[in-house]
Amino acid sequence: MKVDLFDPGFLIDPYPTYAWLRDNSPVHHLGGDFWALSRHDDIVRVLRNPTVFSSELGYGGMMGGGTDTMMRGGDPARRRALTDSGMGVMMQGFAGLRVLIAADPPDHTRLRRLVSRPFSPKSIWALEPRLREICDTLVDELLAARVDGVTDLWQHISYPLPTMVIAEMLGIPSQRKADFKRWSDAIVNGMSLGGGGDMAQGAAGALEMFQYFDGVIAERRAEPRDDLISLIVQDTGDGEEPLTTSELIAFCVLLLIAGNETTTNLLGNFFEAMHDHPDELQRLRDDPELIPSAVEEALRYDSPVQGLWRGLTRPAEVGGVELPAGARVMMLFAAGNRDRAAYGDDAEEFRADRNPIDHVAFGTGIHVCLGAALARLETRVAISTLLERTSSIERAGEPQRPLSPVLRGVRAQPLRIQSA
Ligand code: HEM
Repeated sequence: MKVDLFDPGFLIDPYPTYAWLRDNSPVHHLGGDFWALSRHDDIVRVLRNPTVFSSELGYGGMMGGGTDTMMRGGDPARRRALTDSGMGVMMQGFAGLRVLIAADPPDHTRLRRLVSRPFSPKSIWALEPRLREICDTLVDELLAARVDGVTDLWQHISYPLPTMVIAEMLGIPSQRKADFKRWSDAIVNGMSLGGGGDMAQGAAGALEMFQYFDGVIAERRAEPRDDLISLIVQDTGDGEEPLTTSELIAFCVLLLIAGNETTTNLLGNFFEAMHDHPDELQRLRDDPELIPSAVEEALRYDSPVQGLWRGLTRPAEVGGVELPAGARVMMLFAAGNRDRAAYGDDAEEFRADRNPIDHVAFGTGIHVCLGAALARLETRVAISTLLERTSSIERAGEPQRPLSPVLRGVRAQPLRIQSA
């Protein structure tokens, strides 16, 4: 079978192809230096071996001309699609800066240690009361926007929620929130992990945000407050060289790119799964304590990040196949998350009570998602607020699905909603 990760037919529903790959070609040669992994075990082994499977080579190789080499043998449109997709765009935008997600140890170890504190589960759980207020306000707006009972979940909840939350965490004052939304819209749309955005717009948004953060960082260094930037600029006193201003700005932009569209897509994919499994939705209404497990199941069942890359620093064997140094492997997280060897015969089903804590939707190992606790909490609170305040949520039309091999989600999700 010829597997084409950019084929629209594949992207609309990639799961039958993932099943074929797992059963027939779990270490699949896509062409040129490119390989795709679809088994849970193989993906975990690669993620836990950053010495051989490098993020710098995986993402960094997408910078500029590197992409051409990566897609040798592909047609020009295909090459452009890859350049525009994945972290390649971001890496082009930040060429020269050290970005956490594209760094290997020892750079990664230092960067991660410096930025981790505000994202620890304990720091994130403290945000819950404020998150409940934000979600309540957004649900008010969602319900007020109904026309003949129909409203758009993406426009009123899934899309605005992550930006509002990160703006608060960064300590953006209320009079700058409209600017911040404009910049982050431009960055998220222009530098989408899924590609296809307007890069010029993204770069313009990033530049305005750079200038703004440049000032804020200087202020927080002089006078720390109770916000994320103040926490990160503080000298930890452990002899670690603190982040430079440009590293810090790159990190703030990474938060928007890595954290916003992904969380938006998790909420969208969750409600798509609920439309296909109305009994499971009823189960959550009857027993809201199942919501955290259902969020894990949504991450597993229809992963917002379908797959990401690593590059080999030396020849290595994966799943019985010898790969050469310089090979690029795409770890298909979404395929691994439906592996029967990991989740049993009903791996292709959504089961709200499964609680699949070993899924790889957030990756694993040293690069495991820094925002996982935040994404989980936002999604849990949004779902529980929506279920508490409504008596019925039904599909009211087909959602729009941007087609990307990296990100899977919806844009525009019309729902018919009855208030409780
Ligand atoms: C459902 C939502 C999310 C999903 C599915 C997701 C997925 C991922 C995945 C798969 C990785 C691993 C990348 C790799 O191994 O190469 C990652 C890393 C990362 N994520 Fe998330 N993410 C989500 C939300 C967030 C949020 C809300 C933030 C922050 C506000 C965030 C920030 C990051 C950062 C900074 C990294 C890089 C960590 C490192 O390289 O050490 N993510 N994410």
